[in-house]
Parts: sequence; C-alpha cells; structure tokens
Amino acid sequence: MQSEHLHVVANEPIGPYRLLRLGRSGLRPGTPGQFFMLEAPGRVLPRPFSLCVAPTRELGFLVDPIGPGTHAIAGLEPGDAIRVTGPLGKGFDLAVSSPLLVGGGIGIAPFPYLSERLGRPPALLGFRTAHHAEAAALVPNAEVVLDPTLVTDALPAEPGDVLACGPEPMLDAIEERVAGAQLAREAPMACGYGACYGCVVERDGGYARLCVEGPVVRGGTAGSPTSHLLCAPTSREATAAAGQSPAPTMVARASEEGQAPSPLSSVEDGTS
Ligand code: FES
Repeated sequence: MQSEHLHVVANEPIGPYRLLRLGRSGLRPGTPGQFFMLEAPGRVLPRPFSLCVAPTRELGFLVDPIGPGTHAIAGLEPGDAIRVTGPLGKGFDLAVSSPLLVGGGIGIAPFPYLSERLGRPPALLGFRTAHHAEAAALVPNAEVVLDPTLVTDALPAEPGDVLACGPEPMLDAIEERVAGAQLAREAPMACGYGACYGCVVERDGGYARLCVEGPVVRGGTAGSPTSHLLCAPTSREATAAAGQSPAPTMVARASEEGQAPSPLSSVEDGTS
C-alpha cells in the first residue's frame, strides 16, 4: 500500500461534478475499479474514490461535491497538496470478451479508465438530468438515458459481459437480470485496507469486507447491512431503479452526519 502527498494539476468542472487531476508522483493507477483514499482538507476521515482517468503522470478523480468532505476536495486548486493512498481493493476482471459498461450517476466514475483499458467498449449510462449527463462525455461509445428511463430498460437481451457501477438498486436489478455481472458495490469506508470493519457486506450467506474482497464483486452480495444507518431513503429513493442515482442523496446525508462515505460513491461523496 502506497501513500503520498500529490499536487493538484487541474480542477475542471463537468456537469455538476469536478474532475480533480493530481500529479501521479510514485503512485500506480492500478486496475480499473480499485480505489484510492483521499484525505479531505480539514476532515478526519479520508474518502474513497475510484480512479476516473489515468493520463501519463496523472491520476484523475471525479468528485460530486455534496457533503463537507467532498466540497473540501472539490475546492482544491492547482498547486494544493492532498494525501492519497492506493490503489486499494480488487478491481474489475479485464479478461472479458464482450464487455458492456453499465453505470448510473456518479457511478460512471471508474468507466473512463476502464474503457481505455478495455479498448473503448460500448457503455450504457443513466442520469437524473441532462446536466448530470454531461459527465458521459468522459466515456467513449456511450448511450445515455435520462430519468425516468432506467438503464435496465435499455439493456439489450444479450448484454454480454456486464461491468457495472452505480446506486445499489441499479446494481441489484442488474444482478437479477445478468448472471455473472461484475458489480462495483459501495459501503461506508473509514480505513480502506481491512482494519475497521466499517465496510462489511453480506456475501454468500456470510460477511465480507468490501475494501478487501471488493469493491468489485460478482453476485451474491447484498450490500452493506449498515446502509440503513447512514440513510433513511425517501419513498421515491426506495423505489428508484437503475440509473436514477438515489445514492448521491444518501451519501450526502451520510456525509453531513459525519459518517464515513462509501467508496464508489465517493465518487459520490467522494464515495463517498
Ligand atoms: Fe475499514 Fe474496509 S474500510 S475494513
């Protein structure tokens, strides 16, 4: 596990998000779907983020500034320094013959780097609004659907090898439809390397630490049993389906309550 202070190269707006580009220094980009812990200025707990883009000598993270931690990270300026640890966890299995990337909202964060590594496969992305959908410009060959259309409505009958990231209801719906889909799950994370047990999820009748055995898993994972402690979904969120991204709202709530954000949403709250 490597940890370094990295310097901000650029901080660019894209829709409601910020693309924070850091000088890579000695950190490796790792496998798409792995995550990094970013220490938000003035905050106690670091935030987990999937790597979004990996140009030469840079690491780029997509930030949704919805809570104090992600606002602090999104407010960094060129020349500022931030401590970054990673890459951590298990990413996507890239040995796939017919990949289809399926994502919702800020869950598209790992797809630009994933798409580059897989040779620009097709992608199916869902967003709440056209403003959020501006982030789809980061993902080559993407078909975009907007609320109330769901990404699961647009899934082809034979979707191939699905690699997905997004809100839990979307991932659950994909898991039901596509056997063997790779799902980038999220859970509250405080340490990122297996020490705090804050990221435990139900898996195959037992429990697993998502930061060690995930965040990318294949089926059999029910999500974090502590999610209900972080958020009390509204009736709409509880019924929202694929691609609608109720997760950012939940993460925002969690963050404002001082809870650890979850990893891929961090990408949602800095998924936080
Ligand atoms: Fe601490 Fe997973 S985040 S054990």
